[in-house]
Amino acid sequence: EMPLLEQCYNLLDFEAVARRVMKKGAWAYYSSAADDEITVRENHSAFHRIWFRPRILVDVEKVDFSTTMLGTKVDMPFYVTATALGKLGHVEGEVVLTRAAGKHNVIQMIPTLASCSFDEIVDAADGSQVQWLQLYVNKDRGITKRIVQHAEKRGCKGLFITVDAPQLGRREKDMRSKFTDHGSNVQSGQTTDNSQGAARAISSFIDPALSWKDIPWFKSITNMPIVLKGVQRVEDVLKAIEAGVQGVVLSNHGGRQLEFSRSAVEVLAETMPVLRELGLEGKIEIYIDGGVRRATDIVKALCLGAKGVGIGRPFLYAMSAYGFDGVDRAMQLLKDEMEMNMRLIGANTVADLNANMVDVRSLYNH
Ligand code: FNR
Repeated sequence: EMPLLEQCYNLLDFEAVARRVMKKGAWAYYSSAADDEITVRENHSAFHRIWFRPRILVDVEKVDFSTTMLGTKVDMPFYVTATALGKLGHVEGEVVLTRAAGKHNVIQMIPTLASCSFDEIVDAADGSQVQWLQLYVNKDRGITKRIVQHAEKRGCKGLFITVDAPQLGRREKDMRSKFTDHGSNVQSGQTTDNSQGAARAISSFIDPALSWKDIPWFKSITNMPIVLKGVQRVEDVLKAIEAGVQGVVLSNHGGRQLEFSRSAVEVLAETMPVLRELGLEGKIEIYIDGGVRRATDIVKALCLGAKGVGIGRPFLYAMSAYGFDGVDRAMQLLKDEMEMNMRLIGANTVADLNANMVDVRSLYNH
């Protein structure tokens, strides 16, 4: 009675299956968001308020949606973003995502709080496959330095410092689920208090004192490009440029941190005109994540100036429901949707996508 993989026609279908087959506590950890879960819903509805202005009679026999991210050529303009505790969904954990990302030539961001060890995830990659490190900054900077330098030595091509989590958001679904087995390879060595749910149990090592003053130190300990993950206002994008980092991820952490954060796509629409006006366009790579479920969402983000988008829960759900084959199919579905949508909007390459091809009036007036 479980739907066959072939009956999943889009990324949301995997979520419905995962909800049925996953253990209650695991489902709660993956699906939960902060407080009343308003922001996590907004992450979807913001995309639904952006409309297309397609071009007609463009020869779209050939379309190509490959691009580059931090200098790496990728086949599709999305990456697998960092999500903790992969073994809650699948016995093999994050390496399942690694294999699918390798097959489709997209980048995987490895979470600090992966269930598999960092080395297992790097070893699961094929020779040419690119991975990034997501970093939660430990109060003990010696530990942080070791993690960063080890990642660079093992070939990681980007350091994504999570800046929106000085304290974990209040995810009540997760707190209620009486979380017991976190299957985690937590590298912090602290004792955990499971009564607060999975998220809080594993995150007490994160340094709430992290500030802009620390950025030069990160630049001094690594040559990897540095990206700040979790930026929510254009003022901070400008500060990031000033600090000399290579990128930002506009993100509200999948609605799991500050409730009533705006959607990343709305922040993006606010940011790009300001950068253009200041002549700063191209000074920094801008990524967004949160609520991306369809290639139309990806195309909208690219039109508005994003270099690429991160996708989190859909791949976790596909992995939890069907393992590698699920993630493989989810990526293939996105590829098919991408191809169709590029044709229908009248764009041959991602360079053809621009702000003139979307109507964002109802993004603000709703
Ligand atoms: C996350 N996210 C996250 N981010 C991060 O920087 N470090 C982490 O350990 C995690 N862990 C994590 C676990 C789970 C279960 C989820 C759903 C999310 C946030 C993640 O990188 C990303 O910002 C969102 O998941 C994007 O939203 P969608 O694609 O899930 O809607």
